[in-house]
Amino acid sequence: MNITLRVWRQANGAAKGGMQTYQLADVSPDMSFLEMLDLLNEKLTIEGIEPVAFDHDCREGICGMCGVVINGSAHGRSASPVPTTTCQLHMRSFADGATIDVEPWRAGGFPVIKDLVVDRTAFDRIIQAGGYISVNTGSAPDANAAPVPKVKADRAFDAATCIGCGACVAACPNGSAMLFTSAKITHLAMLPQGQPERWSRVKGMVAQHDAEGFGGCTNIGECAAVCPKGIPLDTIGQLNRDLMTSLFKSDGK
Ligand code: SF4
Ligand code: FES
Repeated sequence: MNITLRVWRQANGAAKGGMQTYQLADVSPDMSFLEMLDLLNEKLTIEGIEPVAFDHDCREGICGMCGVVINGSAHGRSASPVPTTTCQLHMRSFADGATIDVEPWRAGGFPVIKDLVVDRTAFDRIIQAGGYISVNTGSAPDANAAPVPKVKADRAFDAATCIGCGACVAACPNGSAMLFTSAKITHLAMLPQGQPERWSRVKGMVAQHDAEGFGGCTNIGECAAVCPKGIPLDTIGQLNRDLMTSLFKSDGK
């Protein structure tokens, strides 16, 4: 395949950025999108041009590190028949001769660090604000010592599959991180271990979400449409129910 890439280049967060056009030949349809960017970077390096900075790690849809906006959609959702991560998107999703725009996540809570890399430490701070349980560690408890109804276990597991990629934020017109935050809250709210801090957790995490500059949810649903892990929109309903309940309850925190 021969493709034309228009890639966002920005030296650092304070610098002015812009789209740069590159021609790339001999792209295999079986390459992942990141392998195609590797090919671009090899070419740029040979030509003495600074390679494009982008985030990645596992390259198998698990870690949540990768993520760019491709042709205006997070993780290239518009090119893929199913939601996927950028590392699991393949070049066969594009036509030979295509022009492909590649940009970083754009949201108030995700400032650009360089090129396609954004600062997602806001997600870490949201988790630090309550996305954990406090327990005295000791020997491992017996399996099934705390029975969990299957429906709740399944819902907790599904919510726990969020990989923290940030596509939901990039897709949301409000730059909201409610799908991410609600996935963490729903995961712990379904389990017995999550009950002692349930009400302080939701208040703390939502307050941190807002403090980080993410917008509010207005039920548009773009987040769930691009989420590579299928986190459903009704987890935000769970967050809202827990937040309302927390206003009438106290766990002393
Ligand atoms: S909710 Fe989905 S899109 Fe958002 S961070 Fe988690 S896995 Fe990524
Ligand atoms: S590089 Fe790990 S999810 Fe894409």
